[in-house]
Amino acid sequence: MTSIIINPNSRKKIIWDVLVLAITIFATVYIPFAIVSDISNSGLYKIVSVVITLIFFLDILVAFHTGFYEQREFISGKKRIRKRYLKRGFVIDLISVFPLFFILTLVLTPENQHVAEYFSLLRLLKLFRVKKTISRIRNNKHINPGLIRMSLLSFWILLSAHLISCAWIAVWDDPALLNPLNSSHPYLRAFYWTMTTLTTIGYGDITPNTSLETFFVIIVELIGAGMYGFIIGNIANIIANIDVAKSQYQEKMEKVTTFLRYKHIPLDLKTKIIDYYDYLWESRRGYDEATILEDLPKPLQTSVALFLNQSIIQKVPIFEGASEEFIKEIILNLKPVVFTPGDYIVVKGEVGYEMFFISSGIVDVVSEDGSLVYATLGPGSFFGEIALLLSVPRNASIKARGYCDCYSLDKETFDLVLVRFPRFAKRIREMAEKRQEETEQKQLKRQEVAEKLRSKSEENE
Ligand code: CMP
Repeated sequence: MTSIIINPNSRKKIIWDVLVLAITIFATVYIPFAIVSDISNSGLYKIVSVVITLIFFLDILVAFHTGFYEQREFISGKKRIRKRYLKRGFVIDLISVFPLFFILTLVLTPENQHVAEYFSLLRLLKLFRVKKTISRIRNNKHINPGLIRMSLLSFWILLSAHLISCAWIAVWDDPALLNPLNSSHPYLRAFYWTMTTLTTIGYGDITPNTSLETFFVIIVELIGAGMYGFIIGNIANIIANIDVAKSQYQEKMEKVTTFLRYKHIPLDLKTKIIDYYDYLWESRRGYDEATILEDLPKPLQTSVALFLNQSIIQKVPIFEGASEEFIKEIILNLKPVVFTPGDYIVVKGEVGYEMFFISSGIVDVVSEDGSLVYATLGPGSFFGEIALLLSVPRNASIKARGYCDCYSLDKETFDLVLVRFPRFAKRIREMAEKRQEETEQKQLKRQEVAEKLRSKSEENE
């Protein structure tokens, strides 16, 4: 007979694990409370106890049918699953489900019945077995890790405080009588005492009387001292890591501003530099797309680049209808670059080694001295192609109006792409010719106007 083998990563198994986790937490809270509050004889407690036992028992059956991963390989052999489970986990699962409490109730004399109740605390051992589900939650990449760590820390603190409170009620000689003026519930009083002791505040309004109580208090004080340091250290660490990108950025900014001050950089340049970093933070959370994932294997890097750069491909009209192969070739060779307001991205007369695609921002195509604007280009446009196509110096200058996010494509790749994809070569050539003509005409017109003005002034003289 073939039996089902469950994948530990399947949705159903995850839901089951979360259910077992919830039941375990509930049991950890409810069972000790029920014992010290004398409600463990109630019918409700008995029903709840049976349900908990049943679910824990089912979990053992599930564990015998759940495969596992070894070096990323799924192991589904029944023998190996059984061997592995018997070696780790089974004993704890068995103890936590074993109905020792029921057996002892039958065996023990009526006066000693309360001893049996304490054996149901063995259910709490299950807490060690749900660690995996908790670490799965901790490793969830969709939730802020700082938030998860903070929640888990609070959870463990509250759970420990609850268990200590219950233990304190158990060793405390009649808590209700200790302070007849205080009408609050004994559990609440015990919890209050636990919190003041654990946080090392210790008001001293509830003090030990018997040896057992004194011994218990010493232990809790020791736990409190250790826990206090642990909590403070953890919280400091969590806060520092709540937004790693932000703290790294702030650290970088501190370094940069110290350097600028140390080198006496003029104020306007300093403002421009700080402004640039602010823009990097606002537009990309300070990450450098080109280097952040450079240690990934090549195929993964390709997938990331394809994803990150796909928006620019959609924006550029000359890429419309291009083949997948062509897009891949271009995308993999695009490098993100940022220009600050007023930057000359391209200078007329210089040799061109790359062309640019605008992702966001606006640039002006201007004459050498910037006095004549030939055109204005926005997102989805490109520039710098003429020098690459014709191997001539740049025919105009390009000036960024504000911050400009561009992608550069080097000459080598550009030449390769032209040869391999003639349709793209034709389109870009047509565009370049049109632009060249337009610019030349505008230059001519300007010369004519200047000429006319000069001859007019000569005539007047
Ligand atoms: P290149 O000559 O390499 O460098 C300057 C760039 O400005 C040029 O390539 C074109 O991409 C761009 N350019 C020149 N004239 C115009 C125009 N009239 N309209 C749009 N872009 C232009």
